[in-house]
Amino acid sequence: MGVARRDFLKVVSSASVIGGLGAISIKTDSASASAHVFGFDENHVPMNAANLCPMPTSITKAQKEYAAQLDLSLSTSSRRAVEAGKEKARRRIAGLLGVSGDELAIVRNTSEANNIIVQGMPLGEGDEVILWDQNHPSNLVAWDVQVSRVGGSVRRFSVPTNVGSVDEVVDLFVRSVTDSTKVVSFTHISNITGFQTPVAEICAAIKKRKDDVHIHVDGAQTWGAVDIDLGAIRCDSFSGSAHKWFMGPREVGILYVRDTRIDDIWPNIVGVPWGSTSADSPKGARKFESMGQRDDAAIAALSDTALLHETITPESIEQQSALVARRLREGLQDLGLPFISSTNPAFSSSVIILQAPRKTAGQMVREVFHEAGVQTAATGGLRMSPHIYNTADHVDRVIAAVHKKRALLS
Ligand SMILES: Cc1ncc(COP(=O)(O)O)c(C=O)c1O
Repeated sequence: MGVARRDFLKVVSSASVIGGLGAISIKTDSASASAHVFGFDENHVPMNAANLCPMPTSITKAQKEYAAQLDLSLSTSSRRAVEAGKEKARRRIAGLLGVSGDELAIVRNTSEANNIIVQGMPLGEGDEVILWDQNHPSNLVAWDVQVSRVGGSVRRFSVPTNVGSVDEVVDLFVRSVTDSTKVVSFTHISNITGFQTPVAEICAAIKKRKDDVHIHVDGAQTWGAVDIDLGAIRCDSFSGSAHKWFMGPREVGILYVRDTRIDDIWPNIVGVPWGSTSADSPKGARKFESMGQRDDAAIAALSDTALLHETITPESIEQQSALVARRLREGLQDLGLPFISSTNPAFSSSVIILQAPRKTAGQMVREVFHEAGVQTAATGGLRMSPHIYNTADHVDRVIAAVHKKRALLS
């Protein structure tokens, strides 16, 4: 096995231990990080971050307290104290992503963020939208529906899973752009294959080919897992859900829109805090989030989650998450099992998928849970998406269970 337990521990041993049940070990200089633990027990270990992550118990508690505060007192000062979490969350998340708070909308999830771009994009006859065919429906079919309504056309293109180099991938993206292309929209890490796109290189090359193309990146599988600097990546918009790798509250998400593009995108929903004329729009990307009364407790808890990421640092989270995933990938490779996700380090990610027939994939997930006490998913095969709360032991239990039940993969 490539990532020996010794190496695994080397990375995490300098660390404060964010313990709890998951025995999470995070490299961090901050002792305060150890206050954050997860509540799951060793018989119910999540390894399905691509779908849903647990929140650290401190965040669950904070969210409950914010909600209780509102129920105890709906006085102006009580509401303002909880609502203040929204701007705090915006500032913190913007800082983590290397953008300005005015470029960030706090929305409900990635599906909504993607659809704000899809429905807000001024498209018409002659405009072309280019899509990676591995996009999620909210960033694929949503465009089909929109062009049938307003005009324009959609073209999908593929990237072969056995593609050899970053240059080849970049070339496939750039070659799909024509003089009519108005939008290129793709997923940072595919939920279907776990393929990690070289996002910065793709964006730079597309902009070089045609500077006015709007590039939208779906970050559902990267925000919270990967150290992302949107200031350096030349995309125009980016979406994410807090309940996935960010380990935050459910039904809270983000939409980043580059400052120079905000005026060009129509808002889908217009309400308070818009003013009494269309000229009185909320500042910056806030114009995309005026959805009426929101779950302010969840949004305030988003701010606490962002603080946790600041404390641990996105770099350490990425390092730890990648290390756990590498141990899993290499352990499964050692068994000679058939992969759907790439094993090429240039494109691999923490979303690891083994081929499994549709009729037995669900049974495999149940067997892994029964044998190892670890929850995986039957999405596109046997999908395992470990995160920082997963330990070497969780990984080894999954590998042993898959080995034992490997007949279900063929
Ligand atoms: C790449 C991608 N985009 C969008 C979504 C939708 O996320 P949500 O259900 O949080 O809106 C998902 C969900 O798995 C996803 O994997």
